[in-house]
Amino acid sequence: MTFSSLMNAIALTFYIIILAWYSHQTRVLGHGFLGNYGKSRPYEEGLCASLISIHGYKCQELEVTTNDGYILSIQRILEGRVKVEGNVTKEPVIVQHGVMVDGATWFMNSPEQNLPMILADNNFDVWVVNTRGTKYSRKHTYLDASRQEYWHWSWDELVTYEMPAIFDYVSKETGQKIHYVGHSLGTLVALVSLAEGKWENQIKSVALLSPIAYLSRIKTEIGVIAAKSLLGESLTVLHIAEFDPKGIPVADFIKNICVENGLNCNDLFTLITGPNCCLDRTAFDDFMKVEPQSSSTRNLLHLAQTVRTDRLSKYDFMRPHLNLFHYGQLNPPSYDLSKIPNNIPIFMSYGGTDALADVADVQKLLNDHFQDHDKDKLSVQFIPNYAHGDYMFATNANQLVYTNVTSFFKRKF
Ligand SMILES: *[C@@H]1O[C@H](CO)[C@@H](O)[C@H](O)[C@H]1NC(C)=O
Ligand SMILES: *[C@@H]1O[C@H](CO)[C@@H](O)[C@H](O)[C@H]1NC(C)=O
Repeated sequence: MTFSSLMNAIALTFYIIILAWYSHQTRVLGHGFLGNYGKSRPYEEGLCASLISIHGYKCQELEVTTNDGYILSIQRILEGRVKVEGNVTKEPVIVQHGVMVDGATWFMNSPEQNLPMILADNNFDVWVVNTRGTKYSRKHTYLDASRQEYWHWSWDELVTYEMPAIFDYVSKETGQKIHYVGHSLGTLVALVSLAEGKWENQIKSVALLSPIAYLSRIKTEIGVIAAKSLLGESLTVLHIAEFDPKGIPVADFIKNICVENGLNCNDLFTLITGPNCCLDRTAFDDFMKVEPQSSSTRNLLHLAQTVRTDRLSKYDFMRPHLNLFHYGQLNPPSYDLSKIPNNIPIFMSYGGTDALADVADVQKLLNDHFQDHDKDKLSVQFIPNYAHGDYMFATNANQLVYTNVTSFFKRKF
């Protein structure tokens, strides 16, 4: 491991934590997390009621239980605003958000502007996921979210347990092959699931927005300072299993680092995601009312480990005997993205100013693993002025990105 890649690893963790502190600050400043969300309904009622049905979409709240016991909240948008007459079979689409946000993040703009509703209005049967640990997905068959054990997972478990549970559920309900669209961590989970052969008989096509797989080329201004803090280790030492951005221990910890290092911690969202070109102020304020959400510290550590190397591996327990116990070997096993089948239809869109899905990292992903992909089954879009957040709720993402996703899903391969 080189010194600079170690610094980058730490910098990523640091950035994420800074986001957390920022959110804590906004809460302290009175733009509270609670309070009324959305235009007219309290967020507390659930995503269908607060964000979806109010716009005239037929929406169903569902629960999916994973084999490791997590009970996930899923919103199924069965119908767009205009009911289609006749006997049409709708194709299912799973919509997967990134790390430290939840499904609400897609609904910050008008129905004409947001991805799930555009898909619903194009006659897709839309399934919006909320990852374990987020506001509506904190139930478990026997673990309470206040227990350390509840948070003993990283994106490995999303690949192994969470996604298969959702895919099996949607397959069983619809009897059809599934389209998948993911943002950020939702793309990493997809790439690894495909490489591991998890979705083999269930997937129809995949859209990846702000794809992350390799992370070692992330450019950060504060890497040097972050390197000194060795944050990941410290959090582990503090036994903080739930990485709750709104929790006092995490927030205070970050605040101290900012203060001690004389960091300007204003506008951390931009610092983390890049200079988003096209976010609406009101949408952004709404976003900050409901996000960021909890993740597990282990999940963030696993991401930080990914930043260190050009290799994708399972979570490194950082103690040889623990790796031996979990994996039967001293180092965590690698994932091999070259195993992604060449005939899966894949749409990818990446932005030129994205601070997390760095252009050089995306290009490495494309060069290393998609050279041999069937040419007619790979569609890559590059948007020079887009950053990470733009893919979630830029005001023009409908025209630039989401219509491409929709038409890609409608293509006959
Ligand atoms: C819809 O189509 C299916 C299969 O094509 C058929 O079994 C069913 O009876 C049809 N339903 C209606 C209401 O026409
Ligand atoms: C995206 O959509 C625009 C407008 O329809 C089109 O010109 C462009 O080729 C599409 N790009 C991709 C990669 O699908």
